[in-house]
Amino acid sequence: MNPTLFLQSDVSNPYLIYKTMLQNNPVYWDETNKIWAIYSYEDCVSILKNPKAEIPVVNANNEQKLNKKALEILNNLTRLSNGIQHEISKEIAMLLFSKMKSVDINLIISQLIKSYLTENKIDWVNSVCKKLPVLVILKSFGFEEKDCDFFSNKIESLVKIMLPQKIEIQVNSINEISEAIFSIAEKQLSSLHFFESLSSKIPNSNSLSLDEIKTISVSNLIGLFIQSFDAGRGILSNSLLQILNNKTFSSKMEIEKSVIETLRFDSPIHNTRRIAVEDISIGESLIKKDDLILVVLASANLDSEKFENPINFNIERSNNNENLTFGIGGHMCLAKHFSIHLATEALCFLFDNYKTIQLLENNIQYEPMINARLPKAIWISLQ
Ligand code: HEM
Repeated sequence: MNPTLFLQSDVSNPYLIYKTMLQNNPVYWDETNKIWAIYSYEDCVSILKNPKAEIPVVNANNEQKLNKKALEILNNLTRLSNGIQHEISKEIAMLLFSKMKSVDINLIISQLIKSYLTENKIDWVNSVCKKLPVLVILKSFGFEEKDCDFFSNKIESLVKIMLPQKIEIQVNSINEISEAIFSIAEKQLSSLHFFESLSSKIPNSNSLSLDEIKTISVSNLIGLFIQSFDAGRGILSNSLLQILNNKTFSSKMEIEKSVIETLRFDSPIHNTRRIAVEDISIGESLIKKDDLILVVLASANLDSEKFENPINFNIERSNNNENLTFGIGGHMCLAKHFSIHLATEALCFLFDNYKTIQLLENNIQYEPMINARLPKAIWISLQ
């Protein structure tokens, strides 16, 4: 039987696994890992839209021993909350997101390339993909240069706060940086004119004090950086690989369509998790209360019931944009358009400014992660 939970670094072609599971076990109970895995498009949508399937708790009873500030950030994130708490934190995250000023993406990417290009070679992942999305968001909120540097350097450690399981060294570095991260974000948010009036704009928040609303806001501002790091890195990395492989870089329109098709065909985020809070019937299966569920978004994107000839990279397929890579339902990503725009602009900059872009290594290695397929490095030459 194909594995349900595997590290992307261990599997050269996860799409073969998804293809087999789609054919034979679209709703599958993995007895070893005690988790349901959902592979078909229709069933993934139905779980993600089902109020009986909630986000599982990360770090119950603080078993991971996070310190006070780290715990405060984690417990307030919209991405991890349910019910009324989710409604409030999502509203706050969306309000914050809507307040972002537009910034010059070309300027940021050109500075990154200038800093890291050596003898016409650059590692696209470590020089651009890991830095650009977070920097764009930081600058959109007006953070000073030194704070941008601080966040940029610490974000890779901080994102581990989302892991369902953490090792000691990860917990230690999260604990070490959380206080400083929180206080910089708080200072910056307090300096922005809309901050004081934020609470009046949040429905259902009258049971909360102003201080509580401020803490949720700062945590979810930090949440935007956290969410943008791995996923933002992935969309930039995987899109470049597909565009180079398929040579679809002749115009901005073609690049944008390629980014969208990459999200479907080679999704950076492969799965997300839920827990059944009541029994859920799905097809002929019964998911019992308290069962864990793995929603395999990258497999849904390859479902032939939804996408014609799904294993072909085809930027002209009319429904590519209906991929599930940003999720769907109440927890759907709030940065879909932002992310597609950012990746399109960054890749247009690259192809407009360099005549020849060559991949220097064909054997791409992936990070040892279960939920995301992220190249470790992509060395390219720019001429
Ligand atoms: C670049 C900036 C990004 C930001 C600031 C961002 C922010 C967020 C936030 C705040 C949520 C939580 C929404 C909620 O639970 O209420 C979320 C969810 C999600 N995001 Fe994004 N995101 C970004 C990029 C991306 C990208 C590029 C992808 C995919 C490649 C992605 C995939 C997802 C998915 C799958 C979820 C839903 C998870 C679930 O339902 O379990 N995000 N995002």
